[in-house]
Amino acid sequence: MSEKQDFVARYGGLFEHSPWVVERAAERLPLADLHQGLMQVVRDATSEEQLGLIRAHPELAGKAAIDGTLTEASTAEQASAGLDRLTSDEFARFHSLNRDYSAKFGFPFIICVRLTNKAAILAAMESRLANDREIEMGTALAQIGEIVRLRLEDLK
Ligand code: GUN
Repeated sequence: MSEKQDFVARYGGLFEHSPWVVERAAERLPLADLHQGLMQVVRDATSEEQLGLIRAHPELAGKAAIDGTLTEASTAEQASAGLDRLTSDEFARFHSLNRDYSAKFGFPFIICVRLTNKAAILAAMESRLANDREIEMGTALAQIGEIVRLRLEDLK
């Protein structure tokens, strides 16, 4: 295998349903810092591509979680914050905030769930609903950076 193919084979799944980030990073090898290099590809992407990356993430406690169609990494991430064991009231709260958030911004709420907990996620969903779209896109991309940082550590 070539170095590029090797790189894509190893890291291709890091970004949720978005192998293009790692494929582009493979064209820039060697990278001085892997995480930094990957996030530079995201920063260099068009805003349409960035939006596509954000939209590739599942809603928290959303339909994919119920249907069992999350990626393996995402299933573990959501479980780490207890999102796989919600009371019916909590579930209704997530459902309603997910709906309001995506109606306002046109993309799902992204937070690195492994760095937080259920109560803090719900509080962040409420407070971030007041932001404007550009700020939220920036926050979503920064949180994707954190999700990927933890996934990378798991690979080491
Ligand atoms: N959607 C919102 N937060 C997360 C997260 O931490 N992981 C995944 N896979 N999807 C999310």
